[in-house]
Amino acid sequence: MTDMNETLNQWLRDAHAMEEQAEQMLDSQASRLESYPELASRIRQHLEETHSQRERLESCIERRGASSSSMKDMAARLSALMQGMSSMMSSDEVMKGLLTSYAFEHFEVASYRILTAAAEAVGDSETARMCEAICKEEEAMASWLAGQIPEVTRTYLSRESADMDEAKR
Ligand SMILES: [Fe+2]
Repeated sequence: MTDMNETLNQWLRDAHAMEEQAEQMLDSQASRLESYPELASRIRQHLEETHSQRERLESCIERRGASSSSMKDMAARLSALMQGMSSMMSSDEVMKGLLTSYAFEHFEVASYRILTAAAEAVGDSETARMCEAICKEEEAMASWLAGQIPEVTRTYLSRESADMDEAKR
């Protein structure tokens, strides 16, 4: 029989690795964006939130008496690095970044919804509340990005058609 609490601990560790991946990804996006200042500034703000999400997960994992897994965290950072490198090589880096970020935020939202339900199922209401709070931050970022898509796309297209170097990032 698998212990439900152990499964929840594993999922919390997965979320921790996911946030490490997010930190890497957001950090590289924020530092590379030059000509899309509004996007860069919201990404920087979400990077701060993401640091705090990772810390909240660490305290939660510790409170539950589990340990975090560094192998998975390393794999997550590596995958963010490769992701970043592949967008850098494209001439529409800002658009590839937007695509990845929007998809990633939804992946995070789904993860925290699952975690909230799992924490409720084992009666850990403190963890459920934390996951719900983090989920709201991810939803806010996803909806902000959705709102930006039309304008960033138009700006990108008009810069690109005028052969402006500012189009890329
Ligand atoms: Fe996050």
